[in-house]
Amino acid sequence: MVFVMIKKDKNISIAIDGPVGSGKSTISQKCAARLGFIYVDTGALYRALGVYCKGFEGNSTRLEERIRSSNISLKFADGVQRVFAGGVDYTDKIRTPEASMLASAISARAEVRAFLLELQRSFARENSVVMDGRDIGTVVLPNADIKIFLTAAPRERAKRRYDELIAKGADVEFEKVLADLVKRDYDDSHREHAPLRQADDAIVADTTGNTFEESVEAVMRIINERYAH
Ligand code: DC
Repeated sequence: MVFVMIKKDKNISIAIDGPVGSGKSTISQKCAARLGFIYVDTGALYRALGVYCKGFEGNSTRLEERIRSSNISLKFADGVQRVFAGGVDYTDKIRTPEASMLASAISARAEVRAFLLELQRSFARENSVVMDGRDIGTVVLPNADIKIFLTAAPRERAKRRYDELIAKGADVEFEKVLADLVKRDYDDSHREHAPLRQADDAIVADTTGNTFEESVEAVMRIINERYAH
């Protein structure tokens, strides 16, 4: 498939939101590479803060102090994002089931979301980005050039997550992965602040039954169609 080159005299932002296991990060990363854009994985910010703030969640003042002391930042090298908190590279410490639950819990806190908002916006101001998360099209980049809501059936999303964890050598059970995923879906979409929600102007891409490549093609098609008009 041949894709039109996106040529604009301003930075372009593509917001990709969706639930856990919808393929957001791998698909966004691949599309960003094809477009020559920076891929911003906002979930990594919540994951790193979740791990960094473990034990501080009980007290709002202490949590805020801890967040402010984190100096959380993202660095990009050769299309790969690394996340730093408290001067430590957290990139390889945030993909565990525990980090997922800590991230989900901390992401419900208004002070955390407010703290990360401007940081996320600054990436889109300064670069053409494919940014993925839960609230990118609704809150972080409400004026994004293209908004895509990626989804897939829960069992299929759980199977993908399970396969990833097994490939990393984790000792997990499918039913537990599915139950965690359903709980995270519920928590992420029912929290008070910036819940997971499809933006009114987002285009839905359901990846159920797709191979990874088919999903990438589907998303690239949406991007190209949007730009053909
Ligand atoms: O996409 P992920 O699984 O790495 O995200 C980790 C957690 O962070 C997830 O439970 C939801 C939360 N999150 C969020 O609330 N807003 C975002 N923009 C990105 C992630």
